[in-house]
Amino acid sequence: TTLETSAPTGQEPPPVRDWPALDLDGTEFDPVLAGLVREGPLTRIRLPFGEGWAWLATRYEHVKLITNDPRFSRAAVARGQVTRLAPNFAPRPGSLAWADQPDHNRLRKPVAGAFTVGAMKRLRPRAQEILDELVDALVHEGPPADLVERVLEPFPLYVVSEVMGVPDTDRDQVHSWTRQIISLCGGAEAADRAKNGLYGWITDIVRARARSAGEDVYSMLARAVARGEIGEEEAVGLAGPLQIGGEAVTHNCGQMLYLMLTRPELMARMRSRPDERGPVFDELLRWIPHRNTVGLARIALEDVEIAGHRIAAGEAVYVSYLSANRDPEVFPDPDGIAPDRDPNPHVAFGNGHHYCTGAVLARLQLELLVDTLLDRLPGLRLAVPAEDVEWRRQTMIRGPRTLPVTW
Ligand code: HEM
Repeated sequence: TTLETSAPTGQEPPPVRDWPALDLDGTEFDPVLAGLVREGPLTRIRLPFGEGWAWLATRYEHVKLITNDPRFSRAAVARGQVTRLAPNFAPRPGSLAWADQPDHNRLRKPVAGAFTVGAMKRLRPRAQEILDELVDALVHEGPPADLVERVLEPFPLYVVSEVMGVPDTDRDQVHSWTRQIISLCGGAEAADRAKNGLYGWITDIVRARARSAGEDVYSMLARAVARGEIGEEEAVGLAGPLQIGGEAVTHNCGQMLYLMLTRPELMARMRSRPDERGPVFDELLRWIPHRNTVGLARIALEDVEIAGHRIAAGEAVYVSYLSANRDPEVFPDPDGIAPDRDPNPHVAFGNGHHYCTGAVLARLQLELLVDTLLDRLPGLRLAVPAEDVEWRRQTMIRGPRTLPVTW
């Protein structure tokens, strides 16, 4: 191939490594990723589904470069079958993740207002109320309890549903669709069924709200459609991932609490200096192995030289935010959790145009969850030995399946 002959430094292209989706227990850093990092800044990988291989950038510097460079396109990925983690692959029009500029800006505009720092400040009291109800029920029934089932799973869904404007009566149905979509279990068929269910439901709600003056996302989208700024299909493609994004909080917070429950010094720090939890959240976000393998690829639109290799036009590239967050050049002693780390320019929410739309919302929920659980359950501890905590299998986002606790 052109690649073999065109490396600018004459460097051999690295071998293509298979990267299986491992079912890792606990918060262990993926050993395959660790091996790839050792091999070099730019390696080549093959994931379980799709075709061929892709480049993988693991260093902080290159991850930032690639995610800020318009020569790497998301829209181009949607036209092929790039090697990937997920079995099913059907990008919809309107999805932010698959849009390049200037489309990305046009699509983001109608919903951006719902996810700003100001909007989140206004949401905070209602979110606290939702959480208090869940924790009240927990306290009322008494220990032990599974925190995932009772709090971590329902809370982000109810909050995101509040932002989106999902009627209470539809919440449980919407939840079951989103859970199926994010799971790798059940295969492509089950995921497709769930997607069709959710997307059909969103279509109906966007149509029904064309004249709504509400500040919920579905009303905002419906008005943008009415003004002709986005198409109806795009509104649906935009809303789906927002509705699904809440799941990330469940599992990230599950890992966060697990770390506190198994590292007494970390728990002690959180409890003794409650006003200084902010930097600890950032350090945990940096450290937590949020996902399995890598997220969405990008395609080089022209030849680009990185780390002594030429990425040829048409080739696929992944970045690992997880390994960037452990880059020793940016984070001294990267594998240690340092609550006072400063500065902490982590990329847990991504970088560039595709930076997580829900980052401020996620941050708000993580803070509310940890603050509320620690304050309301003073003796909070695991109800089983740490080794007995079960972890999620066959999923894109890692986290404990259950978190049995007592207090
Ligand atoms: C994208 C992390 C919660 C919605 C992303 C990306 C990361 C990320 C790493 C990808 C950046 C890229 O493609 O380069 C997280 C983490 C979360 C979280 C760690 C929780 C702790 C949420 C929530 C929502 C959300 C609550 C929804 C309300 C999205 C959307 C995108 C995205 C729509 C695609 C943005 C785009 O491509 O323009 N997130 N996320 N996320 N996230 Fe999140």
